Formats: sequence, structure tokens, C-alpha cells
Amino acid sequence: MTQGLDEALRQLDLPHLQRRFRDQSAFLYLPQFLPPPLVEMLRRAVDEVQPDINRNYLPGHKQGGSVSRHAIDARAPAVAALYRDATLKRFLAGLAGEPLEESPADDPHAYALYFYTQAGDHIGWHYDTSYYAGRRYTLLLGVMDESSCRLDYELHTRTPGRSPEAGSVQIPPGGLVFFDGDKLRHRITPSKAGERRVSLTFEYLTDARMSPWGRLISNLKDSFAYFGFRQVFGRRRAGTARSP
Ligand SMILES: [Fe+2]
Repeated sequence: MTQGLDEALRQLDLPHLQRRFRDQSAFLYLPQFLPPPLVEMLRRAVDEVQPDINRNYLPGHKQGGSVSRHAIDARAPAVAALYRDATLKRFLAGLAGEPLEESPADDPHAYALYFYTQAGDHIGWHYDTSYYAGRRYTLLLGVMDESSCRLDYELHTRTPGRSPEAGSVQIPPGGLVFFDGDKLRHRITPSKAGERRVSLTFEYLTDARMSPWGRLISNLKDSFAYFGFRQVFGRRRAGTARSP
């Protein structure tokens, strides 16, 4: 199923990438990562999930379309299979320097697609805060990019004794960004009319436990800011199993 991923990963110099990741306070950008067959699979997934795009608008903070893991499970299971791919997880754990777990079944962010397809779609400066007992790592994979949108970021904002260091990248189809969500301050700059950008995000954890209160806060945030109440809470009412 990995469609050339094993081979692509074998070409990478893991110790060198681990050093870069550490030196940048748990951040790495690779403009080329996924092999072409997987990029093509993601493009097809974008077509499949169109009916489930949830548009949201939070004045001053974010505007765009999102498709949660629940919709991806139903319409594009190959994306879910990539999220669970053992080779990919081993590589990411190697970068992080610690074991990583998948996000629980009721976390709509575990894997999600983000759409920047209307003028002004963006997300303002933020951290990918972990509501879990452990760290939350974000993997961003470029799917389509016919846009001027940039991922602006600041490294070392929470590293004692270091000055923040600004950077800015575009993520081409198949490109990778991987970071510790509580360490990287970042944003996506607004798209212009006629532009189109789609990115995929995978979330991995070091300890997937979460208090019921943390889960409620996280779900409310996801409902307002990302996926809508139907995708976040509707699943629960329908009896979706929760992982332990
Ligand atoms: Fe983010």
C-alpha cells in the first residue's frame, strides 16, 4: 500500500534530518517527500471528499474549508491507511526521537484535509496546542498548491535562551512539514481570488490520554473552528466507538 514510500524513505539521511529537526526546535521542512503515486492518491481523495467540505469563518483568526477524519474514513480510506502506515510512523518517530501513537478514534484532527480555495482563506498565528497528556506532533503534507499562500513560522519562541527565528515556506504537492505543535508558532497567509491550495495534516501523540474536560474543550474548538458540530459531535450520538 505504501506505493514507493519505503524506497523514498530509504533514500533519506535520517541522522542528518534528526539533527536538523532538533536544531530547529522540533521542526523540519522537506520540499520533496511523498513519491508521485501517493501524491496522485491524495489528489483523488480531494475529489472524493468534496461533498464533506465544511467552510468556516472566525473573524480575525481563520477562514477556509476542512474535512475531518470521519469524512475521510467514509470517502477516502486510502488516506487513513497512509496515516497508519508503519513505515511512515517509524520514520516520524525517528525524527521526533520518541515513540509516537495514533490519535484516538474520536479525534477529528487525527487526519484532516484543509482547503484554501476562496479569496482570504487563511489561518492566523497559533500553536497546534496539545490537549493530551503528551506531546502532539503535526505532519503537514502538500496535496495541491496553485496559490500564493505561505506557511510562515517562528522557531525557538519557547526555547529558553534562544531568540525567535522567522521562516516562510510553500509546501509543494508531496512536500512535508513536521513539528511539535506546542513549539512552532505558525500561520498560513491569505489566499487570493482564483487560487487553490489543499493540504493534509496528520496528528501523532506521545501519550493519547486526555481528561473528559480536555476532550470537551477540544471538541468545541474543532466544531467552531474546523469541522462543524455535525462532524464532531454527530459521530458520538451515532455511537462511534471511543478508543481507550
Ligand atoms: Fe496549525
